[in-house]
Amino acid sequence: MDIIKLLKKLTIEEKIGQLLQLSPFHFIKDIEVEVFGNVKELGLTEKKIFSAGSVLGIHNAAEMIAVQEKYLRKSTHQIPLIFMADVIHGYETIFPVPLAISSSWNPKLAFDTARVSAIEASSAGIHVTFSPMADLTRDPRWGRVVEGFGEDPYLNAVFTKEMVKGYQQGDISKDENIASCVKHFAAYGAAEGGRDYNTVDVSRLSLHNYYLKGYKAAIDAGAKLIMTSFNVIDGIPATINKHLLRDVLRDLWKFEGLTITDYDSLHQVVPHGNAENDREAAQKGLIAGLDIEMASSCYINYLKMLIENNEVSIELLDEAVLRVLKLKEEIGLFENPYKGASVEKESRIIRSNKHLEISKNVALESAVLLKNDGVLPLSKNKKYALIGPYAETKNTNGPWSWHGKNELNHTLKEKLEEQGIILSLVREVNHINELSNEEQALLKKADAVIFALGENERESGEAHSKVDIKIPRNQEKFIEFAKEQNLDSIIVLYHGRPFDLSNILSTNAILDVYYLGSMANDAIADLLTGLINPSGKLTMSYPRHVGQIPIYYNYLNTGRPKVEGDRNEYVSYYLDELNTPLFPFGYGLSYSKFRYDNLVLSKNEMYFNEEITVSVDVHNESEIGGFETIELYIRDYVASISRPVKELKGFQKIWFAPHQRRTVEFKIKKDSLSYLNAEGLEILEPGRFSIMVGSSSDHLLCLDLICKKEVSL
Ligand code: NOJ
Repeated sequence: MDIIKLLKKLTIEEKIGQLLQLSPFHFIKDIEVEVFGNVKELGLTEKKIFSAGSVLGIHNAAEMIAVQEKYLRKSTHQIPLIFMADVIHGYETIFPVPLAISSSWNPKLAFDTARVSAIEASSAGIHVTFSPMADLTRDPRWGRVVEGFGEDPYLNAVFTKEMVKGYQQGDISKDENIASCVKHFAAYGAAEGGRDYNTVDVSRLSLHNYYLKGYKAAIDAGAKLIMTSFNVIDGIPATINKHLLRDVLRDLWKFEGLTITDYDSLHQVVPHGNAENDREAAQKGLIAGLDIEMASSCYINYLKMLIENNEVSIELLDEAVLRVLKLKEEIGLFENPYKGASVEKESRIIRSNKHLEISKNVALESAVLLKNDGVLPLSKNKKYALIGPYAETKNTNGPWSWHGKNELNHTLKEKLEEQGIILSLVREVNHINELSNEEQALLKKADAVIFALGENERESGEAHSKVDIKIPRNQEKFIEFAKEQNLDSIIVLYHGRPFDLSNILSTNAILDVYYLGSMANDAIADLLTGLINPSGKLTMSYPRHVGQIPIYYNYLNTGRPKVEGDRNEYVSYYLDELNTPLFPFGYGLSYSKFRYDNLVLSKNEMYFNEEITVSVDVHNESEIGGFETIELYIRDYVASISRPVKELKGFQKIWFAPHQRRTVEFKIKKDSLSYLNAEGLEILEPGRFSIMVGSSSDHLLCLDLICKKEVSL
């Protein structure tokens, strides 16, 4: 298809239509008969609807085929619709939530989840997924931390990249590949107070060094679209932010794909106070470099008028429309408007055993063992009580799993019993008082109690911010009861954000499972019984108190850092709480026991154009084989800008047989030693660095490295 020629044939209305994205119901309902609220509110006519360029949220192949057929019957130029949807952690086979996936520290698993998602979603006729979410998250009050890969820019970039590769496989024209739309550009995760949609105010240095890294990685991996965020940056909503959309995206990063608003976010620049009305919003959007408008109608209703009045140029419109046509061409829609959609294939492959097995493998590596004083693994010779709101529920899919079916999942009770674990009492209750006297008596007779606790699936995700990040208060009573009765207890924790767990630490063990998807309890039972050794590690710091937020391991030192043990008062600390988190970034236990020693640098001084090797000996001192993630951090002591006390620069997840000792090596090159200035340009400065390797961000061996300017070798 010659898309330039096609563009020339389009009327101005037809061009503007290509920039409109609507929901499937707009096409399915007969609007002449039924003019319902949304259509009226948006000022849409049938003509405008049937000029739209793309669809948001299709449900299955049959629906896709019906919408496309109806649309093409009415279309003059036979330009097919693109179908986009939120396939976030699986389509119908649901995987662990992204925060859990990152806790696996195994990027290959992110690739696998994206592959299965693409295979399933494409069979339903979906061409684009609004994933990955590359927003850096440092505030557990924000409900959307569950959708991201945590607080670290490096790890976030690694996982984001793998997701994009998994969805697209470098060629979106292939039937089982879909295009990736990375979101939410930019810094949506830095919403003040952790309140969703709230103001963001971060410096350009922070943007480039921390917040933008994930989106950039997605674009470098070939992501075809980027979604703007709801928030302002520098006082300008991201959706009409020319600096972000043109200077950063196009000029600095050379992005050639499409930009798209978030839901209604172009219209929302009016309540933001950046445009008088939808007309001005449309003008600012196109000038800023915004291509597709999702679910509001500023472009469709006002762009024509703005162009005719010379308030925006037709060239800007053509540029945006051409990008839409280009994506349609790349997907192959002009040859086959129904690309991928197949009712037969959909029913055959969706939630297949093969896909479920992959989901279970991801789940097995995503759970994090936070505490264990020896009560885990469970023993088949003991009697356990299983109590709490997650004891018998199948609701383990978590937020953004609109196509997943919780009812097909298994319960923890079923899965533990299948493994021969004796459960003397099982009760799905929210409070210890809900147990009858006889049940309490039974509970006391158990050898230990498993508490399946956590927050409701709907308490995290979009629009679900919280100020209280403790375990729901009535659930604390379970732990108090266990303590009073001297009962051993194990908590299995289902939730969508880091919690403040300080008031339930008297428990003997905590297995943190977030929402692990379709095979959650299958995997959890394997981990509890020791069939599989837990290997996840945290990717967000767990605070001791909500008042410590934002809390993250890669903070700046300040001019008055707190030194543990030093009694000086005039330093950066709290009167009533420690600075450190309860469970740090990178932390996670295993049934094995690993010891690190013998950290060695191949050279103590390096020129920037050299590469050195850092090695460390890791020893599994236990009888149990297991995976260990070895983490590499670097500190740059003196630079033109203040640098974090440590930054993750590499990691390796490796299997250790019982008692195995291995020497693990990392390479250090200049890209691990540089930072970005406020313009996003790479800066390398010589001086003293620390190289740190260990099992967690607070458990590291450390050596100094002197770096010098490049010389010709
Ligand atoms: C709003 C959410 O912020 C975004 O992540 C999602 O992709 C869109 N709605 C479309 O559903």
